[in-house]
Amino acid sequence: AANTMWGGRFASGPDAIMEAINASIGFDRRLYAQDIRGSRAHAAMLAAQGIISDSDARAIGEGLLTVLSEIEAGNFPFSTALEDIHMNVEARLKDLIGEPAGRLHTGRSRNDQVATDFRLWVRDQCDAAIAALEAVIRAALGQAEAGADWVMPGFTHLQTAQPVTWGHHMMAYVEMFGRDLGRFRDARARMNESPLGAAALAGTGYPIDRQATAAALEFDRPMANSLDAVSDRDFALEFLSAASICAVHLSRLSEELVIWSSAQFRFVSMSDRWSTGSSIMPQKRNPDAAELIRAKIGRILGATVALFTVMKGLPLAYSKDMQEDKEQVFDAADSLMLALAAMAGMLSDLTANRDRMEAAASAGFSTATDLADWLVREAGLPFREAHHVTGSLVAMAEARGCDLPDLTLSDMQSVNPAITDDVFGVLGVHNSVASRQSYGGTAPGQVRAQITRWKEKLA
Ligand code: ARG
Repeated sequence: AANTMWGGRFASGPDAIMEAINASIGFDRRLYAQDIRGSRAHAAMLAAQGIISDSDARAIGEGLLTVLSEIEAGNFPFSTALEDIHMNVEARLKDLIGEPAGRLHTGRSRNDQVATDFRLWVRDQCDAAIAALEAVIRAALGQAEAGADWVMPGFTHLQTAQPVTWGHHMMAYVEMFGRDLGRFRDARARMNESPLGAAALAGTGYPIDRQATAAALEFDRPMANSLDAVSDRDFALEFLSAASICAVHLSRLSEELVIWSSAQFRFVSMSDRWSTGSSIMPQKRNPDAAELIRAKIGRILGATVALFTVMKGLPLAYSKDMQEDKEQVFDAADSLMLALAAMAGMLSDLTANRDRMEAAASAGFSTATDLADWLVREAGLPFREAHHVTGSLVAMAEARGCDLPDLTLSDMQSVNPAITDDVFGVLGVHNSVASRQSYGGTAPGQVRAQITRWKEKLA
C-alpha cells in the first residue's frame, strides 16, 4: 500500500529494498524526545497565532506526551514503513487523537523538523561533553596537586630530555582539555539558532512566529535564512571536529599511561578497577581501558571524515544524503562520552610512583642542559662551547656507566679547568626543576600557580 503520509499521488508502495535503504527509524528513534519537544513547541505556536484551534493544540500536546511515555516505556510500535521518527510519532498521534493530529504539520516540513531535532540533540551532547571534560580536568588537577614537585623525566623524541614535574605534565593535559572545553562551548553557542519554521526550504505563507518556537526550544534566535536552515549540517561537523581534537588528546594521554604502566617504566600504577588480566599469563595487568580510549579516535575521526564527505558537493537545499549524518554523530558522541568517563575514572584512581619517576629523571643525563647553562653563567663560556664541553662530560659518564653528578671534580676539570665544586649544586634534578621559574615553566611554584588558576576557573 502507498505511504499514508505522502502516498496521495502513489498507486503502489515501495519495493522492499527501497524501504530498507530509505528508512532511518532504526537509528533516528534516538531523536524521539527532541522530535516531540519540537512538535509541542510548534503546535503551541500554531494555536497562539490562530492557525489551529486551541482545542486541537491541546489534543496534540497531550497526545504527544502519551507518545513520549509509550516510547520511554518501551511499548511504542515503531514501523519501518513509516520511514523515520518524525512520521512514526505523527502516525501514532493520529491513532491516539484522530483528526487534529493532521494539523500538526501545518507550516512545517520534515526538513526543518529534522534539522531542529538534530540541533537539539547535538546541543545536548555539547553540554554532556563539557561536563565530562570538566570531570577529566578535575582528575588531572588532583594528580597535579598531589605531585606538583615530584620530579620525572621530560622527554623529546621519547628520549630523556630535561627533568619536569609530574604536576607540570598533568597540567599540560589540563590546558589541552581546557581548549577542548572551549571548542565545545563555542560550537554550542554557534549552533544555538532555530531552523524551525524554515519549512521545506522557502519559509511558509502561514503567519508563524519563529521567535516564539526558537524561545520555547531555548535557542537564542531563529536562523536567518530558510535555505541555510534546512541545508547545512555544519553544527554536526563542528561537534565532530571538536570531538576529534579532544579524542586526539585523550589518545595521547592514554598512550603515555600505557607506556608508563609498563614494567620497564613503572611511573604509574593503574588501579584494579581500570586494569584487566590475561587468561594465559597470570602475572599480567593490562591497561585495556587506556588502550581503548587511545583507539576511539579511529571511530570519531572516521565519523568526522564520513560526514564531511557526505556534505561536500551537495546542492542546496535538503537532499536525502543528509540522513546519513545521524549514525556517524551518534557513534562519535557515544565513543567520546565513554572515553571521557573512562579517562576521568582511570586518572582519579591512578597512583604515580614518585620514587621511580625521580630515579628515572636522575638517570639519562637529564641535567646536561643545566650543566651547560652553569658553564655559561659561572664560567663565562659561549653557549655553543658550553654545549660541547657538556657533551664531552656526558660521553665520559656514559663510558663509565655513571650519571653526571657521579663524575668527580677532577674528571670535570680535565675537560674544562674553569669548572668548580659549585657545579654540583645544579646537577641534581630538584635543583634543575626549581630553576625553571619562567612563566609556565616546570618549577613547582609555577605549577602551583597553574593549578590555582584552573581551580578558580572551574569554581
Ligand atoms: N529521515 C529524514 C532525515 O533524516 C528526515 C527528513 C526527510 N525529508 C525529506 N524531504 N524526505 O534526513
